[in-house]
Amino acid sequence: MSLVTSKELLERAKEEGYAIGAFNANNLENVQAVVDAAEEEKAPVILQISQGAIRYAGLEQAASMVKIAAELASVPVVLHLDHGTDFNQNVRCLRAGFTSLMYDGSKTPLEDNIAVTSRIVEIAHACDIPVEAELGRVAGTEDKFTPEEIEDLKTKPDQAAAFVERTQCDSLAVAVGSVHRMKTREAVLDIDRIKGIKKEVNVPLVLHGSSGVSLDSIKEGVAAGICKVNVATRISMAFLEGIKTAWDKNPDDFDFRKFFRVGKANATKVIRSYIQILGSSGKAF
Ligand code: G3H
Ligand code: ZN
Repeated sequence: MSLVTSKELLERAKEEGYAIGAFNANNLENVQAVVDAAEEEKAPVILQISQGAIRYAGLEQAASMVKIAAELASVPVVLHLDHGTDFNQNVRCLRAGFTSLMYDGSKTPLEDNIAVTSRIVEIAHACDIPVEAELGRVAGTEDKFTPEEIEDLKTKPDQAAAFVERTQCDSLAVAVGSVHRMKTREAVLDIDRIKGIKKEVNVPLVLHGSSGVSLDSIKEGVAAGICKVNVATRISMAFLEGIKTAWDKNPDDFDFRKFFRVGKANATKVIRSYIQILGSSGKAF
């Protein structure tokens, strides 16, 4: 089927109280692993092009992989820009046929974040394409912030209300206790904070850095109002573990496709378990 927009999926998820999984599209096997999992779960899914994927595969080539995968799929697929860096990159993605954009102005002063997000929203909405924005800051493990600093970077509910009102963004990435690129599931979400933000804004809320969040906490976060859950690190780890196990068994084989096949199957298994936890199994339309 053809690509769908994230607005279609997220608004429905918000109404019905589940979340859509958003997974990275770094290479062919990665894209296939996501779509295989979504097909097996009969779930709508978001394939997102990260900044790393743009550097690795190139924006157009990465986008093309997702478009073809969506055409071949029987479940709804979104082509989303993850952590868009600026206005120009968002325009390029609009032109390349993305059905969902993101501007991450979380490291910039609030007024700059509002100004750039609003500009992107204006041109995206002219093409009926939704935009995810970020308020508060979801740090990365490399930032080495203290727990107090992480607390301070969390999204403030009253600020979120004004931000959404002024930018007219379609979904909001919130900082509620997760940290990007964690390899262990030690982070616990601030559920009261999620509920507080949900009370103030009526757009779907997005969780970044979900690999490091305990699965119970993700479930609670979804029940509290999270509608899109981004998972990357954990899928990469599953992919690599599969490759390593297969290669260790046959170190003299040079056909890397055999190893990639095992990596892909391992990634599919993990993606399926996330889709089940998010409650989006069987929600394909
Ligand atoms: O935008 C991508 C995600 O937030 C992924 O974060 O690698 O920690 O799961 P993660
Ligand atoms: Zn992220």
